[in-house]
Amino acid sequence: MASPLRFDGRVVLVTGAGGGLGRAYALAFAERGASVVVNDLGGDFRGVGKGSSAADKVVEEIRSKGGKAVANYDSVEAGEKVVKTALDAFGRIDVVVNNAGILRDGSFARISDEDWDIIHRVHLRGSFRVTRAAWDHMKKQKFGRIIMTSSASGIYGNFGQANYSAAKLGLLGLSNTIALEGKKSNIHCNTIAPTAGSRMTQTVMPEDLLETLKPDYVAPLVLWLCHESCEENGGLFEVGGGWIGKLRWERSLGAIVRQKNQPMTPEGVKANWKKICDFENATKPQRIQESVGSIIGVVSKIDSDGGVSTNHTSHAASTAPSGFAGAIGYKFPPFSSAYTELETIMYALGVGASVKEPKDMKFIYEGSSDFSCLPTFGVIVAQKPLVDGGLGEVPELPVSLEKVLHGEQYLELYKPLPRSGNLKCEAVIADVLDKGSGLVILMDVYSYFEKELICYNQFSLFLVGSGGIGGKRTSDKVKEAVAVPNRPPDAVLTDVTSLNQEAMLSWKEYENSQGAWMAQSAALYRLSGDWNPLHIDPNFSSFAGFDKPILHGLCTFGFSARHVLQKFADNDASRFKAIKVRFSKPVYPGQTIKTEMWKEGNRIHFQTKIHETGDIIISNAYVDLVPASGISAKTSSAREELQSTLVFEEIGRRLRDIGHEVVKKVDAVFEWHITKDGNTAAKWTIDLKNGSGKVYQGPAVGSADTTFTLSDEDFMEVVLGKLDPQKAFFSGRLKARGNILLSQKLQMILKDYAKL
Ligand code: NAI
Repeated sequence: MASPLRFDGRVVLVTGAGGGLGRAYALAFAERGASVVVNDLGGDFRGVGKGSSAADKVVEEIRSKGGKAVANYDSVEAGEKVVKTALDAFGRIDVVVNNAGILRDGSFARISDEDWDIIHRVHLRGSFRVTRAAWDHMKKQKFGRIIMTSSASGIYGNFGQANYSAAKLGLLGLSNTIALEGKKSNIHCNTIAPTAGSRMTQTVMPEDLLETLKPDYVAPLVLWLCHESCEENGGLFEVGGGWIGKLRWERSLGAIVRQKNQPMTPEGVKANWKKICDFENATKPQRIQESVGSIIGVVSKIDSDGGVSTNHTSHAASTAPSGFAGAIGYKFPPFSSAYTELETIMYALGVGASVKEPKDMKFIYEGSSDFSCLPTFGVIVAQKPLVDGGLGEVPELPVSLEKVLHGEQYLELYKPLPRSGNLKCEAVIADVLDKGSGLVILMDVYSYFEKELICYNQFSLFLVGSGGIGGKRTSDKVKEAVAVPNRPPDAVLTDVTSLNQEAMLSWKEYENSQGAWMAQSAALYRLSGDWNPLHIDPNFSSFAGFDKPILHGLCTFGFSARHVLQKFADNDASRFKAIKVRFSKPVYPGQTIKTEMWKEGNRIHFQTKIHETGDIIISNAYVDLVPASGISAKTSSAREELQSTLVFEEIGRRLRDIGHEVVKKVDAVFEWHITKDGNTAAKWTIDLKNGSGKVYQGPAVGSADTTFTLSDEDFMEVVLGKLDPQKAFFSGRLKARGNILLSQKLQMILKDYAKL
C-alpha cells in the first residue's frame, strides 16, 4: 500500500468553503492533518447578502472531528484580509484553493454591466487578489500549491453563461502564467473544471444525478494536486463523479499562404482553408516558444526559399523546437505500388512459405481456391521511399543512407490485401526524435486500394550518430513495442519447412541445408523490392563491415509473422490485424531462426531468436488477430436485419477474453433499445458489472444503470466513430435514462472493443 498523502504542518486556505465543493475540500484537507482557513462570504448563489454561519458551520464540523480550522467571512475580493487570517492563526500559508463563486446567468444580449462585472470580480479578480496576497509568502518558503476553478462552460461555452464562461476561462490563462512564474520557487498552479451537485447546480440537474455527483468525487484530485509530492504544474483537468481527465491544446499543421515578395490575400487563405483546419498529424504545443518559434521558422523559410511550394507549406508550420521543423510533416511525393500474383508469390517464397507445408499452398499457388496475399506483404507496397533514396530528399534531415538502420516496424491492415492490385501510397514524416546517440525518424505510410485505406505502416528508422542536438525524446505518434510475457512461451516454431530439409538428414547436414536455404531466402526476398546488395553480394557486405551478406530485417519479420499466422490463425490471412516488431540484431543467412510465441487474448506476443546462438533478433513484438468468430459474423451479415446485432455479438465475444478486466473498470449495466423506423426493434444488455461481464439480448436482468435508446443506423454511426454520442444526446438522436454520466465509460468500450 502506498503511504497516505498527509498535510500535517501545512496551512490550507479554501475560498467559498461554506458549502458545496469548497466544504468538501476543507473537510478532506483537515482530515489529513492540514490547518484550514474556511473562507465564505455567506451570500446566496447569485452573490446577494452575506453572513458568517456558512463558514462557522464547516469550522465547527472540522473541529468536532479533532481537526484544526478557523473561519474568515471576507469576500475574496479582499484577498489580503483572507490570507491574513491564515497568517494570524497559523503563521504561514501553503495552499490556496480558489473556489468561491456565484452565478448571474442570462442570455448574452441581456447581461447587464453589473452582472458582467460582479462575475468577473468574484471569480477572476477574487482569485487574483487572494493568490497575490499569498504569493510572496510561498516564494519565501519555496513551496506553494494553487488551484484555480474553471468550468466546462468556459472551456466549451454554455448557453446563457457568457459572463461566467469568460471569467472561468480567464482563470485558466491566469493559471498558465502563474505556473510558469512560480515554477522555480516550487509553486505549482493547476486548474480544474469540476462537475458536482451543489446549490449552484441543483436548479439545472435532476436530483438523482446530483446525488451521484458528490463533491467528494472531486476533492481527491484537489488534494493530490496540492500535495508536496505532486509535480503537476500548469495542468487543466475535468473532474466529476469519480472520473478525471486531462486536457491539452492541439494545433493543425497549418499552411503557409504567402510567398516571398507577394501580397498575402484572403483568397490565398480560402484556397488553403482545408489544410489550415486539417488536424491529421496535428501537433500539441505546450509552450509559447513552440508557438512563436514555428511562426519565426515560417518567416525565415519564406524569405530563404523565395516562396514555398504547396507541397512544403504545412511542414514548415509544424515547427517544434527540435530543429527539424522542415522535416516533421514532410510529405513524400505520392507513389503507387502495382503488383500481380507473381510478386505476392515471390514474397511468400522469400519469407519461407513452402510446398512442403500444404497450408502454405494458398500463398504460393495462384490456382488455390483460397489464394491469398500474405498480410506482411503490406510493408512491401509501402517501402518505396526507403529503397529509392527518397529519405535523402527530406528537408533538414542529415540523412546519410548508409547510416540508416531499420529500428522498428508497425503494420496494420484494415482489409486483407488483394491478390493483385495497384495501391496508391502517401508517406509522411510523422515525427523526429532525438535519442542522443542518434535520431529516430517515424515515417508513416498510408496505402489505398480503390480509394479505401487498406493498410498503414510506421517505419521507425534510426540515424546513427546524428542525435544529441536537444530535440524531443518521445512522441505520441509512436506505435509502441510491447515486452513479451515473463513466462515460458506457449509455442515455438523453428523454420524446418525448407525444400532441402529431409527427415533423414543429420543435425549437421540439417544446419548446413538450413544455411543454404536461408541464403536462398535472402536472394529470393530481395526480388520483392529491396535490392540492396548488402543482402547478396559478399564484397559489398564486407565493405559495409559485415562478415557476409545479412538477411533483410523485414525478411525475418515476414518469417515470424508467418509463424504466428500458422500457429494461431490456421494460416487465415483475413485474421491478421496488426504487427509490431523491434529489430535488435542482424541475422546471417546460415543461421536458423525460431519464433517464440505467447497468446494473450487476441494478441500474440513474440520474439525471434537465432537458434544456434540464442541471440534475440526481433524483440518486444506482437501480432494482433481478429477473433475467428469475428470473421464469421462479418461474412454472414445477411442473416441479421439489424446491423447493431453484429456489434453486440462481437462485443460479447471480445468480453470473453477481457471481460474481467473491463468489469473492474466500468462496473455498470447498460441496456439498449435499438429502434428501426421509429419502433423498438431489439433490446440488448451489456452487463459490465457482474462476474466477467456478458452481453445478451433482451432487457437487463435486475436493473440497468443506464438505458440508451437510438436507431440502428445511429448506433452504427456511434460505433464507427462518425457520430459523437454526446452530440447525439444533445440533438435528441440518442436518449438516455438513469446515470448518463456512465456514457463516458461506454464510449471507451465501444471505441476499444467494437471495432469491426
Ligand atoms: P456553491 O454555491 O455551493 O459554493 C460556492 C461558495 O462560494 C458559496 O458557499 C458562496 O457563499 C461562496 N462565495 C460566493 N461569493 C463569494 C465571495 N465573494 N467571497 C467568498 N465566498 C464567496 O457552488 P459549488 O458548486 O460548490 O462551486 C464551487 C466552485 O466550482 C465555483 O467557483 C463554481 O463556479 C465552480 N464550478 C462548479 C461546478 C459544479 O458542477 N458544481 C461546475 C463548474 C464550476
